[in-house]
Amino acid sequence: MPIPLRDRLIVALDLPDVRAAEGMVEKLGDAVSFYKVGFELALAGGLPFAQALARSGKKVFLDLKLHDIANTVARATERAAELGATFLTVHAFPPTMRAAVEGRGKSALKILAVTVLTSWDDNDLEEAGYSHSVRDLVRMRAEQAREIGIDGLVASAAEAADLRKKIGAMLLVTPGIRPAGGAAGDQKRIVTPTEAIKAGADHLVVGRPVLSADDPKAAAEAIVAEIAGALK
Ligand code: C5P
Repeated sequence: MPIPLRDRLIVALDLPDVRAAEGMVEKLGDAVSFYKVGFELALAGGLPFAQALARSGKKVFLDLKLHDIANTVARATERAAELGATFLTVHAFPPTMRAAVEGRGKSALKILAVTVLTSWDDNDLEEAGYSHSVRDLVRMRAEQAREIGIDGLVASAAEAADLRKKIGAMLLVTPGIRPAGGAAGDQKRIVTPTEAIKAGADHLVVGRPVLSADDPKAAAEAIVAEIAGALK
């Protein structure tokens, strides 16, 4: 099924509390249909808020990057599906991914795997006891995710084009987006919405370029318009 244009933009509600998140959702109105709730907000009352957001008709991406024993991951994933989430992230360890796929069952929830955190480099992997390079581990885990039946991957746009060839129809969700002329913040590898879509991304995760804009709604509308142009 084609992805509705507006659903391609996911606004990361990286805000300190529910009141700020509610204010932003109100401000963005119809311009945004999909929101990401991560650790910060989840630990500040963000889960009941996420449930209410889903009930109000918005799509919710729970970016909780689960990784635990299989039983716990499977049961937590069931709860995320009940909460009404559309996307849930887990780390791309095979037992964790299998448990999440089991917990998701036939619900509408889609599981996204995080292959290797983009803040990690080869030295971090070596320190953690891995003998793979980041590049090789990303590829290996992407392949495992596909075999296990994971619905999609979170990937930087730099990885997206390479992954797209390997993972076929799986979803690619890409953060690190900066509209042309925007400030990079702490993102090191940034791309424009057009570049990310051309690289094969299905959904773009955008935080600060929308949250910190003088007019967040206009900023979101501009990104959706740019995505529309890139899809033509
Ligand atoms: O503000 P900004 O657009 O940089 O926000 C990006 C969002 O995407 C944040 O919520 C961040 O946690 C998330 N993210 C990321 N890089 C990754 C994975 C997730 O920036 N590799």
